[in-house]
Amino acid sequence: MRPRLLLAAMAAACLGAGTLLAQDAPRLRGPEPFTREQPAPPMQRAITNDVRVRRNYPDQPPLIPHAIEGYALDLNANKCMSCHARRFTEQSQAPMISVTHYQDREGNTLGGLAPRRYACLSCHVPQTEARPLVENRFTDMDALAEPERQTGNRGGR
Ligand code: HEC
Ligand code: HEC
Repeated sequence: MRPRLLLAAMAAACLGAGTLLAQDAPRLRGPEPFTREQPAPPMQRAITNDVRVRRNYPDQPPLIPHAIEGYALDLNANKCMSCHARRFTEQSQAPMISVTHYQDREGNTLGGLAPRRYACLSCHVPQTEARPLVENRFTDMDALAEPERQTGNRGGR
């Protein structure tokens, strides 16, 4: 094939793949072309019913079931710790941060909150009433283990 023809064929193939990908990807920004500026959609309402959410797997950082608007989380103040630190849990009735939050990455237990656990919101997130953009096909371990249960092997969980 002549080089120019080969280039044209490659460009066409790339374009084709691009179009296919674009069709597969979920539409994140609505029907308007991206060149037209749109007003931002309204903020979704946060779920703040104080009901602790089941974890999807034992090591999941639990979701935040309460409002966090206006809570300071910076170099000088960590509002989250004013309820979740061990010494404040009696008056706040909040669950204490678990022991992993007092350990560094080598597993040494520290006297206070580990720096790598300081920015709570990098792992714990609140939820909103927004409709998911893509379907979630996650299957809980308990559902996967169901056939095993029926044969009488109950495991220890
Ligand atoms: C005023 C006290 C208070 C503050 C401040 C606070 N929390 Fe809470 N938190 C609670 C209480 C009480 C609960 C138990 C559920 C409930 O009542 O909402 C809770 C529950 C949680 C849970 C769920 C734990 C589980 O096992 O399901 C997470 C995660 C959490 N909070 C994270 C945070 C983070 C992150 C911040 C800071 C952005 C924060 N909280 C600030 C009082 C507080
Ligand atoms: C690097 C990720 C990460 C950060 C940062 C982090 N957490 Fe967690 N948190 C987890 C994970 C994972 C779990 C569940 C497993 C565990 O206990 O280690 C958890 C568990 C918890 C629990 C439930 C404890 C229990 O025994 O049920 C609370 C409450 C909590 N975190 C609060 C906080 C607060 C408040 C902060 C900020 C000061 C914070 N976490 C920062 C990952 C994180």
